Amino acid sequence: MTRAVCPGSFDPVTHGHLDIIARTARLAEEVVVAVGDNLTKNGLFTPPERVAMLEAACAPWSNVSVTLFTGLLVDFCAAHDIGLISKGVRAADFNYEVQMAQMNRRLTGVETILLPTDPQWAFLSSSLVREVATLGGDVSGFLPPAVAEQTAARVSAQLVED
Ligand code: PNS
Repeated sequence: MTRAVCPGSFDPVTHGHLDIIARTARLAEEVVVAVGDNLTKNGLFTPPERVAMLEAACAPWSNVSVTLFTGLLVDFCAAHDIGLISKGVRAADFNYEVQMAQMNRRLTGVETILLPTDPQWAFLSSSLVREVATLGGDVSGFLPPAVAEQTAARVSAQLVED
């Protein structure tokens, strides 16, 4: 059975991420979406909140599950019998994504497939979504409706705190 992982920060999950997850769910029998829990970035959402949003967004796909992971991605793959890493790649990310794929393969032999981002989402990233939302822009076109609502609520709450 082909088990694949779609790893990432997903802060928050965007339509670009969901396109990659959906495409991976057609290529692999089982897909685990793995939210990195040991990243040093200042998050808009906590990792458990990201998992909850992803679980709701991925509910239509019966072969997709969502979990947190800590430590090395290759160790997570080995522990969960996952032989394939699937990632979306924008032109600007290509060199770094290839470098990580080569490092991961050297570490344990796990293979990576890099799926070119759908052109309609080529400009999209979670970090830009956070910036636009924080500065009052409309990000509802880039996120599932529930995620857009939670993002608007979170940035308003942060503005009140500051
Ligand atoms: O959405 P992101 O921020 O691009 O996701 C990056 C992520 C979580 C996939 C990457 O940082 C990762 O794999 N982190 C786990 C630690 C690890 O294995 N590092 C070595 C990479 S070669």
